[in-house]
Amino acid sequence: MLILGIDTSCDDTSASVINGRKILSNIVSSQISFHRKYGGVVPEIASRKHIEWIWNVTEQALNEAKANFKDIELIAVCHGPGLIGSLLVGLCFAKALSYASQKPLVAVNHLEGHILSIFLEEEPEFPFISLIVSGGHTSLYRVDDFGKYKELGRTRDDAAGEAFDKIAKMLGLGYPGGPIIDSLAKKGNPEKFNLPRPYLHKSFDFSFSGLKTAVKLLIKNLGYEEGSLDEDIKKDIAAAFQSAVVDVLIEKIKWATEFENIKTVVITGGVAANSELRERCLKLKEEGLNVYLPSKALCTDNAAMIAVAGYERYLRGEKSDLFVNAKAYLPL
Ligand code: KG4
Ligand code: ZN
Repeated sequence: MLILGIDTSCDDTSASVINGRKILSNIVSSQISFHRKYGGVVPEIASRKHIEWIWNVTEQALNEAKANFKDIELIAVCHGPGLIGSLLVGLCFAKALSYASQKPLVAVNHLEGHILSIFLEEEPEFPFISLIVSGGHTSLYRVDDFGKYKELGRTRDDAAGEAFDKIAKMLGLGYPGGPIIDSLAKKGNPEKFNLPRPYLHKSFDFSFSGLKTAVKLLIKNLGYEEGSLDEDIKKDIAAAFQSAVVDVLIEKIKWATEFENIKTVVITGGVAANSELRERCLKLKEEGLNVYLPSKALCTDNAAMIAVAGYERYLRGEKSDLFVNAKAYLPL
């Protein structure tokens, strides 16, 4: 069964064709160069770029998959959560395709897409603990089956990826900060500066804004202006910050597996591409947990994850009508 997936939830215009759970194409057209000079995503620019690109990106996905649109049997599209203007572009495009071709449409929650992205490559057994750790979300779920998600905790302020991006901005490193901090941290000493680990004892919630303030104060106390630090100091702060975030994520995963008595863990979302987090997951495996991480390209936003989540919903009898709306806030 050929499925066309579409995701325009933030600043990536993405379309994918999958056959069952097998990826035939997964085009992600990044708008980063248009947002970089503003140090973050500008919603108005993002939606305009989606309008300009969505047609070409979809054609590219069909061409790369060597598929003809008439052979597509299902259209899956992300309808939230995300930037409302961005979401509307993908959703209206998908609705128009569905209406004109009379092909079924399934609207997908972006978070479900992240959780199920692992099924494009592997087949973890239910139940599992899922950590979504991205630019917009940091949430822990207990997943009992496709469509059965129980939220255990979430961030009370910034998402982990957002914290990476903000710290990178303070260090004058550019946008998006996650991958830059990741590579810089490899050359730094994580023990040079002692940053707090916000564990929020007895809670599965997260909080990263205090860590952000701690870095701000550290920069000030060291006598630097934000954005103009010595190269060596940048590396050490990047390493200290990253290890603080990774410590918290790993510790919460362990608590959740113990509390729920579940040994399988799936970690997805942009920050799951982080090398230190991935290395620490190997240690979790040695400690007896079955840890699943998608390959890096499937951690960050992409339409294949929307396609597979839509496919699983369709298999269970779900279809969306043309009244389905985009939602900036859409819990699972
Ligand atoms: O999942 P994603 O593409 O979009 C959202 O749904 O938010 O995640 C993007 C986030 C950004 O904050 C980016 O800085 C972060 O993921 N990120 C990373 C890495 N690669 C991307 N954070 C840490 N280390 C990385 N290697
Ligand atoms: Zn995402």
